[in-house]
Amino acid sequence: MTDWHAAYRERYKKLKEAGKPFFPYAVLKDTLVAALILCVLSYLAWHFGAGLEELADPTDTTYNPRPEWYFLFLFQALKFFPGTLEAVAATLLPGLGMLILILLPFIDRGPARHPLDRPFWTILGVATLAGIGWLTWAGYRSPLTNPVVEKDPVTLQGQRLYRDLNCSYCHILGGKGGQLGPNLDKVLGNHDDAWLTKHFRDPQALSPGTGMPKLDLLDDEIHALVAYLDSLGSGPYSAEAPKLFAENCAACHTIHGKGGDTGPDLSLIGSARDKAFMRNYIADPSKMNQASSMPGFSGQLTDHQIEDLARYLSSLR
Ligand code: HEC
Ligand code: HEC
Repeated sequence: MTDWHAAYRERYKKLKEAGKPFFPYAVLKDTLVAALILCVLSYLAWHFGAGLEELADPTDTTYNPRPEWYFLFLFQALKFFPGTLEAVAATLLPGLGMLILILLPFIDRGPARHPLDRPFWTILGVATLAGIGWLTWAGYRSPLTNPVVEKDPVTLQGQRLYRDLNCSYCHILGGKGGQLGPNLDKVLGNHDDAWLTKHFRDPQALSPGTGMPKLDLLDDEIHALVAYLDSLGSGPYSAEAPKLFAENCAACHTIHGKGGDTGPDLSLIGSARDKAFMRNYIADPSKMNQASSMPGFSGQLTDHQIEDLARYLSSLR
């Protein structure tokens, strides 16, 4: 150890005497290169800018959220860790990598500089880079894993109208919105389509003195809004529904502490999914989620029973 150290110091001393001092020569070089990079970056930012995606659209069900390419490897690595262990992939492993990098000068004290003379560290470094490269590629290729929620186009138009007409300024829906009007989460099930249609056409005619503004909507806009509210509104379900659930679903799903845990807990499913989703999922899960392991019920239950169940589930908020 001391042998090569002494030799190294000797060589270093000689080089130092022959060379130029760090300040200002090396500092000047660094500064010049840094300034050059800054100029190039500024030019790129000014001339090309950073591309932005389109404004977020909650009605778009095909959107496949992806991080930037330089984070894809982390994004992909997360998939190897189940829910609660995500922190391991997100913080622990990268932290460990950084720690090794920081400690490297203290761990690897050998005088040899050539990569081939330091096989352990060279292999470790190359393997890490290859792993990151592979994860990036796999992340880039990985398909959309969220179940594609196929929504009826009329319902989608209604959802857009609800947003564009700022209904949420006065109404709470899905737990969000203003308090000027009634909380739609609570009241939607109480009205049928005919009532809603009349209400949107002319609120005053239906309930004189109401604070709900007349919106001068076209008939097909009214139709779309009603379809959208229908898709959310749980509507009344029969006393049969909880029984159907206990018989067919509780083996795998829990509601309010009762049931199995093969499938997700559905106690609050109504806040996450709308009725249409529920109907389709119960009828044939594999259509919406290729990886689904839940059996479809379209053969076993009647349409009426599935609708009943869907209403029941969407009332769970
Ligand atoms: C300026 C505030 C305001 C806006 C904007 C508004 N509403 Fe209302 N809405 C109200 C009020 C107030 C009532 C209560 C009427 C009553 O009690 O007779 C109401 C009632 C309703 C009802 C009936 C609820 C019930 O059971 O009585 C529905 C459904 C409804 N609004 C949907 C909508 C939709 C959809 C939009 C957007 C197109 C919208 N509202 C925009 C204020 C508003
Ligand atoms: C054999 C077990 C099993 C049975 C029985 C079962 N499910 Fe499921 N269910 C699952 C599993 C597992 C999932 C998770 C996603 C998947 O694999 O489809 C799921 C997912 C769901 C979802 C979607 C949740 C979400 O947010 O994506 C709904 C809704 C649902 N089940 C409702 C029902 C209803 C209603 C019944 C009874 C008619 C039922 N399930 C019967 C296992 C089951």
